[in-house]
Amino acid sequence: MDILLAGSFLEGEQQIWLQALDNALSGHRILPDAHAAQRAGIEVAIVANPRPGSLAGLPRLRLIQSLWAGVDRLLEDTTLPPDVPLARMVDPAMSAAMAETALWAVLSLHRGFFAYARQQQDALWLPRPQLRAEEIPVAVLGLGEMGRTVAQRLAHNGYPVSGWSTRPARIDGVRCAHGPSALQSLVGTVRIVVNLLPLTDATRSLFDADLFACFARGAAFVNLARGAQVVEEDLLAALDNGPLAHAVLDVFGREPLPAQHAFWRHPLVTVLPHVAALTDVHSAARVVAANIEALERGHPLSHLVDRHRGY
Ligand code: NAP
Ligand code: GLV
Repeated sequence: MDILLAGSFLEGEQQIWLQALDNALSGHRILPDAHAAQRAGIEVAIVANPRPGSLAGLPRLRLIQSLWAGVDRLLEDTTLPPDVPLARMVDPAMSAAMAETALWAVLSLHRGFFAYARQQQDALWLPRPQLRAEEIPVAVLGLGEMGRTVAQRLAHNGYPVSGWSTRPARIDGVRCAHGPSALQSLVGTVRIVVNLLPLTDATRSLFDADLFACFARGAAFVNLARGAQVVEEDLLAALDNGPLAHAVLDVFGREPLPAQHAFWRHPLVTVLPHVAALTDVHSAARVVAANIEALERGHPLSHLVDRHRGY
């Protein structure tokens, strides 16, 4: 089978993917940059945010497999073949990495470690009160592959965790709410809000002045999902004038975050360069291989995106 590998890769990254996919997919031909003559035979496209238009004109295409968990950028491509199944990356290694990042952020906020890092710059010896985890309620927005793992990890570490999703959910040790009407009261009852929602029409610009006004005074916001879900000026205003005390941001409206952006130097913002959960090359290659094998055998495909829902 001819397989296209297309995406925006960092220096050397494409070669690493080719090697890992080659190991996991023996007997197939993987074409990194298919020329016109080779494109006609391509049956599977493995993609990492490819250039818009790069999946058009593939008459035999039967599966688009994303190496990213979030498919918002792919779905923005109006030339994406509408009837070809689209699968996203779901990999326990990636969810585990996300749980580590969320736990680091929540622990650091809870124990004041970001504030101590600021104090160190001024040689300021100023111990703060030490609260117990059970005194720090946390909300996890989005209870999918990432949010569910994060909610369970935080609950396991002693935090009272509430979760929010579209449809009703049940997770041991987590209070679950659902639907738009539950959101404003939920964010008002917790000390830390962790965003793990996919970017869709319903979640674009969700975090605006109205929603930040519902957060509890002194609360923190952790965004590990997508930058376009946040109205950045409204977040800055909520940090400068309340109610927010800190924001941990891994994702931004524009990436890389421009050097002059206010987030870089804001004393109440911690910036990460979109690394909360990177795709794990080796386990992801096996996830991709399993889906391609299912395609070949005519078995059901895993992790299909509902294009109507947008995730
Ligand atoms: P997922 O399995 O599709 O889960 C999405 C969750 O969000 C589901 O629980 C869904 O509810 C809920 N949801 C969607 N729209 C909603 C709405 N309007 N209101 C309330 N709940 C809503 O996705 P995932 O694998 O957990 O990934 C989530 C996102 O994390 C990705 O889309 C991506 O943007 C981001 N991500 C970021 C990184 C990073 O490094 N920063 C890495 C991986 C992923 P239902 O369960 O009711 O459908
Ligand atoms: C990363 O942000 C992903 O969606 O995989």
